[in-house]
Amino acid sequence: MNETLERWSTRRAFILAVTGAAVGLGNIWRFPYITGENGGAAFLMLYVVFVLLLGLPVMMAEIMIGRAGRRAPMQSLAHLAGQAGASPYWRLLGLFGAFTVFCILSFYSVVSGWSIEFLISAVNGDFDGRSAAEIAAGFESFLGDPGRMTFNHTLFLFMTMTVVAAGVAKGLERLNNLLMPLLYLLLALLAGYAATTDGFGTALIWLFRPDVSAITPQVVMHAMGHAFFTLAVGACALMAYGAYMPERQSLPRAAGAVAVLDVSVALLAGIAIFSVVFSQGMDPGEGPGLMFVTLPIAFAELPWGALWLSVFFLLLLLATWTSSINLAEPMVATLQGLGLSRGKAAALIGVSVWLVGLLSVLSFSTLAEWRPLFGMTPFDLVTTIPTEIFLPVGGLLIATFAVRIMPREEAQAALGAGGAGFRLWHLVVRWVSIPLAAVVLMAGLL
Ligand code: PHE
Ligand code: NA
Repeated sequence: MNETLERWSTRRAFILAVTGAAVGLGNIWRFPYITGENGGAAFLMLYVVFVLLLGLPVMMAEIMIGRAGRRAPMQSLAHLAGQAGASPYWRLLGLFGAFTVFCILSFYSVVSGWSIEFLISAVNGDFDGRSAAEIAAGFESFLGDPGRMTFNHTLFLFMTMTVVAAGVAKGLERLNNLLMPLLYLLLALLAGYAATTDGFGTALIWLFRPDVSAITPQVVMHAMGHAFFTLAVGACALMAYGAYMPERQSLPRAAGAVAVLDVSVALLAGIAIFSVVFSQGMDPGEGPGLMFVTLPIAFAELPWGALWLSVFFLLLLLATWTSSINLAEPMVATLQGLGLSRGKAAALIGVSVWLVGLLSVLSFSTLAEWRPLFGMTPFDLVTTIPTEIFLPVGGLLIATFAVRIMPREEAQAALGAGGAGFRLWHLVVRWVSIPLAAVVLMAGLL
């Protein structure tokens, strides 16, 4: 009896940890604005296809490698490569992943800082009685204030690195997942409210009736990148979790549950946000400010709007907090593996990420005219390149390692699926995921 209870609790803990990493800014902030910039339904359709054919199978590969290696990502890769007689340089894949999450965390912390600002504003009732135009203008002026943005970025990163340094992420994960249903409920409530607005019908058509002529190689590449980003796949961050996965748990089932949850949070957020966009006559391609401008407007229409808005930003902050801990953890673990103490490693990473994050902060004010590459600001670059190139490249290598380097029996044991399930997964990764990612990357880059 006790034994079953134990196992149940660790299985559940595993799913909760992966969900904590997956659900975050990617669902509520990035999904709506990137969908808006890429024409709506056609993008959404591609994104779902990529989640199914790429994100999910590669997520299984990534966690499976960690489970088979039972070590930190770099060490797992080195160990398994050694066993298979493959090149020890496979461990550099772990380093590449650490570099990817470094870049991502630098803007993730800045945008999470925006949530802190909005939480405080909501609690103060600053949005009460404001018109849509006033709320939009307020956001613009906030972006133009590097001091306030730096303060929030610093605060958020400090919150993240303290938890990482103390190694108490598990406790926070519990709390997060206790409150996750509440976030879900709030989004469902908002989507329900959205159904009563006159933008709802337009929003549904915009989200669900694809216009295939809108599809370009770039749109396809954005969709692929977002599938990796939202599932937290391609940076070896989830590989670290695989190491702690219970013996007798089906990995495909766990990964499937996380993907369903992740996609549905994004859909609810999208329905709520685009209904507001269309009832207010706003531009869906408004960019990274989309969520921050539309949700205060939507909540303002509801009874006790300020209260709900505060609760919403609090929950969003909690969700991004667990995601950012998951972004930081593999880097700290890697430095620890090189002999640094946990505290020192966390401090070193924290300060470096903070410094690079300043480039994102200043992209909206002092450095707005600085376009170091491809005519993009540092913020545009760091929100694009790591997600759309580094994650898919990492995913491609992870998938290759899983089906070409690891012996089949070992992979099957670590995947925890039956013979037929394993063969299907192996086939999909080998003949669909890998060629698909390679082709899209090439088409998008050329
Ligand atoms: N999946 C997270 C989100 O949607 C972001 C993330 C990416 C976390 C990569 C970890 C690794 O917000
Ligand atoms: Na996500």
